[in-house]
Amino acid sequence: MANIFDPVTFGSINLPNRILMAPLTRARSDRNGVPNALMAEYYAQRAQAGLIISEATGISREGLGWPNAPGLWNRAQVEGWKLVTDAVHRAGGRIAAQLWHMGRLVHPDLGGGQPISSSATTAPDFAYTYEGKKPYTEARAATREDIKRIVGDYAQAARNAITAGFDGVQLHGANGYLIDQFLRDGANFRADEYGGSIENRLRFVTEVLSAVGDAIGMEKVGIRFSPNIYSQGVEDSDPIPLFAALAQRLEELNVPWIELREAHRPTSAGAVPTAPVSPAIRPFYSGAIAVNSDYDGPSARARMAEGIVDAISFGRPFIANPDLVERVRAGAPLNPGDEATYYSGGAAGYIDYPTLSEERAAA
Ligand SMILES: Cc1cc2nc3c(=O)[nH]c(=O)nc-3n(C[C@H](O)[C@H](O)[C@H](O)COP(=O)(O)O)c2cc1C
Repeated sequence: MANIFDPVTFGSINLPNRILMAPLTRARSDRNGVPNALMAEYYAQRAQAGLIISEATGISREGLGWPNAPGLWNRAQVEGWKLVTDAVHRAGGRIAAQLWHMGRLVHPDLGGGQPISSSATTAPDFAYTYEGKKPYTEARAATREDIKRIVGDYAQAARNAITAGFDGVQLHGANGYLIDQFLRDGANFRADEYGGSIENRLRFVTEVLSAVGDAIGMEKVGIRFSPNIYSQGVEDSDPIPLFAALAQRLEELNVPWIELREAHRPTSAGAVPTAPVSPAIRPFYSGAIAVNSDYDGPSARARMAEGIVDAISFGRPFIANPDLVERVRAGAPLNPGDEATYYSGGAAGYIDYPTLSEERAAA
């Protein structure tokens, strides 16, 4: 049985431990989605992670609707990301880019034009824009031509990620964004070959994975899902058979690793989780499975000791504990994060959380 400090292989990436940094949007890029030296410092501080998964990163102008989130569709963004990947590698770490199309969750103020989704729907609640919160607007249903173009955008963003020095990519298939809007029947009402049956709802993600695998090699590709939580209006009436079929598809495609945001308690957004889905995925999928949500050191070690999953990913704990791996090893307490600075921009609450040795020196 693997220990959380044992090495593990995710496709072509060799992880020295099984503590992953979960993707965390921190809104520190400029308005053109260009990463910078501040972000390089933040990620390099967290290089002890077995693998850093970057904050969600737009594959296209159309797909990015979060203020100050980064992109990976143009040269300036690639150059900005090189600062980050170089810094992480110099610090001894590894980093995958989380590739993001937000679908109907892109407000026209940010994305340019009407948002796009599997079906003509409007997301509930409010979008963050540069002028504050605004209600979402209705998305139009993607045409077959749109789908072809978006699949191409994923492949190009993956190539750009490799050019920018990332060790691989993770497709963002979780949290109610575009891939999830195709997968789950609470948002996909299409009558064509991309909607209806499970097989049809798997078509979009299958095409994206195949195109990205062809572009950069499937050994560099992972994907994230959030199968047991309602996310931003997206849920499924029967998630177990859907995700079991998806697991078989991932196996056929040779996708080497997946990350599941599998909540055990209500999320910060108030979503109450349904039954865990990882037990339905494991029998069909032989790649590495990382699980996320609400873990601390002891609960992560206990989960690993069950011998079912291969790694644990930590989100909020990595915000406030840059040396999380060392703290888990030492059984040291974890600092709480300051929610007010999660998306605030600037260095405060971003690169100023202390390591254990800094805390000891200050004591
Ligand atoms: C500030 C913040 C930003 C997040 N950004 C992303 C993101 O960009 N992509 C993503 O897939 N999940 C994102 N999440 C979800 C986290 O990756 C993670 O699933 C969640 O925080 C639960 O894990 P934790 O209990 O270890 O924090 C974000 C969460 C927080 C708190």
